[in-house]
Amino acid sequence: LAGDQVIVVSNREPYIHEMTSGGIAVRRPASGLVTAVEAVMRACSGTWIAHGSGSADRDVVDRNDRVPVPPANPSYTLRRVWLTKEEEEGYYYGFANEGLWPLCHIAHVRPVFRSGDWDQYVQVNQRFADAVIKEARTDDPVVLVQDYHFALLPRMVREALPKATIITFWHIPWPNPESFGICPWREEILEGLLGSTILGFHTPFHRKNFLETVDRYLETRIESEASTISYGGKLTQVEHYPISIAWPEDAQTDGESAADCRIAIRQELGLGAEHLLGIGVDRLDYTKGIIERFQAVERMLERHPEMIGRFVFVQIAAPSRSSLDEYQNFEARVRNLAQRINRRFEDGSYRPIVLKAQHHDQDELQRYYCAADVCLVTSLHDGMNLVAKEFIAARNDEQGVLILSQFTGAARELHEALIVNPYHIEEGADALYRALSMPRVEQRERMRSMRALVKDFNVYRWAGRMLVDAARLRQRERVMTK
Ligand code: G6P
Repeated sequence: LAGDQVIVVSNREPYIHEMTSGGIAVRRPASGLVTAVEAVMRACSGTWIAHGSGSADRDVVDRNDRVPVPPANPSYTLRRVWLTKEEEEGYYYGFANEGLWPLCHIAHVRPVFRSGDWDQYVQVNQRFADAVIKEARTDDPVVLVQDYHFALLPRMVREALPKATIITFWHIPWPNPESFGICPWREEILEGLLGSTILGFHTPFHRKNFLETVDRYLETRIESEASTISYGGKLTQVEHYPISIAWPEDAQTDGESAADCRIAIRQELGLGAEHLLGIGVDRLDYTKGIIERFQAVERMLERHPEMIGRFVFVQIAAPSRSSLDEYQNFEARVRNLAQRINRRFEDGSYRPIVLKAQHHDQDELQRYYCAADVCLVTSLHDGMNLVAKEFIAARNDEQGVLILSQFTGAARELHEALIVNPYHIEEGADALYRALSMPRVEQRERMRSMRALVKDFNVYRWAGRMLVDAARLRQRERVMTK
């Protein structure tokens, strides 16, 4: 694909510029998608089209809403699309996050489908498709479409640019046909996605669910062996590509050592060297299993009273989609539960749960990862979950234990984690106690093997595999149309 133009489309932008009294401030959002795709874009340049979420001031973007990024050392262009209040309400909060998000996660939150939201979703997909078409300098760019915000865009772009190579990656799970079938616009969504040349999921399960969903609701030809779908005279290759992180450069891990972080973070929390520390890092989202995690902490303390006063669990929870009722209710439930558990076990200044419900930047997260004895990832359902991989990458001391929900994509790869069913509180409590009492040698063995895997299957491999597949299909197309 050398020399070909690469255009990425996602809802969330990699950098948010805000005007503050001190000038322009740049913020990085909490999003696994952004973390992964940004690493790839730094390496391959091109244009990233995203929903502008900060300041639209002319000091920040040029007349075409373009800004070179990363700010310190620009290597690609961020092109912002500004949405009206109604568009953001209907497309982002409404259809994407009250409809598709719960629909695909099966976290027992009932999806809400409103026709008005759907109309905005269609309209915004068209606006982003128009931006792609406008940004295209040739008739056959490589377009990388990200996530459930843009299910209709592949087909829209395909109609205008029939020779484009469209790679769509669905970052969240794909449910079974029965679950997906309740969506009133299921056919439109499937048809939209089948505008892609390649459609990627994290795991073979999600890929299989997608093929079965298409089989159930559309008149198509599916080649299960080759994993291709032929629809409207166009072929879509459906594959699984597990996403990952950029393995940290040696230079980046040179700063504070794990041992220094261990002491410093404990001091910041008013704890001593004897305290055992657990960490959770999530967006404040009902799919992440934060309630079940706190319950497992409570049960562990109940069963092992010697851990009261000794074990502290820090939950970092970045506020997310907080104008939606479901998210406000969830935050209130999380806060109440933390408070109840703290009251139950408090002793002097000791509280077992520290809830930090605010945004933390990547450097701060690294320090917590390094300081922790155990990291808890207990999602009720998760496409991949990159926190699990970030924790492993941070541990160059080869210590620390990962507890990982069996319902994450990451559990398909990280077999040396303690795998749990987050709905089973006893099991979570047992795993936590086991982690806290695990000998250092066993920690090292497990961590070493997981580090080797994450280092090897990094985010460049994720993107590389998709791009190699795309290059192969492009070549075949060229030969066939000659
Ligand atoms: C998940 C989605 C991403 C999204 C991220 C953060 O990881 O797959 O598309 O960017 O959550 O959510 P937000 O709505 O804040 O972008």
